[in-house]
Amino acid sequence: MNDEQLVSAARAAALRAYAPYSRFSVGCAILSVDGEVATGSNMENACYRLGVCAEIAALTAAQAAFGLNKIARVAVAGGDGSGAELTGANVCTPCGGCRQSILEAAQLSGRDVEILCASGDGTKQDRHRIGELIPHGFGPASLKDAG
Ligand code: THU
Repeated sequence: MNDEQLVSAARAAALRAYAPYSRFSVGCAILSVDGEVATGSNMENACYRLGVCAEIAALTAAQAAFGLNKIARVAVAGGDGSGAELTGANVCTPCGGCRQSILEAAQLSGRDVEILCASGDGTKQDRHRIGELIPHGFGPASLKDAG
């Protein structure tokens, strides 16, 4: 699956977001090293702080489908999902908590996972590595001196 297809999968997943409070729909598509794809979308809650980000939903699906250690590339897109297609001009980058969770997967596999951050309408895409989005991160490798 190429980058464009992965971004399309993320944009399609965003249309399944449950985001009645923020009205900001996010979708995430995760590609495995073997070409499998897992997706997720944000799921908000009336108790606002219990909302789940799209990346966490997709990481959970990826864990169940092929394992966190097989993650090769991630696409994220966010915007207005109220219509037939996701819209919005601004690229959506993963929040800090989601970066931390992607870092966990990256350190498990020893792969500096690539993240495609797309605008809602899909026309803009920024490409980053997790090591760039969360420099000097604390991950499983940081625990090697534990007793
Ligand atoms: N959101 C995500 O799903 N992923 C991110 O990386 C940023 C924010 C969601 C959380 C909330 O449902 C909505 O976007 C607005 O913050």
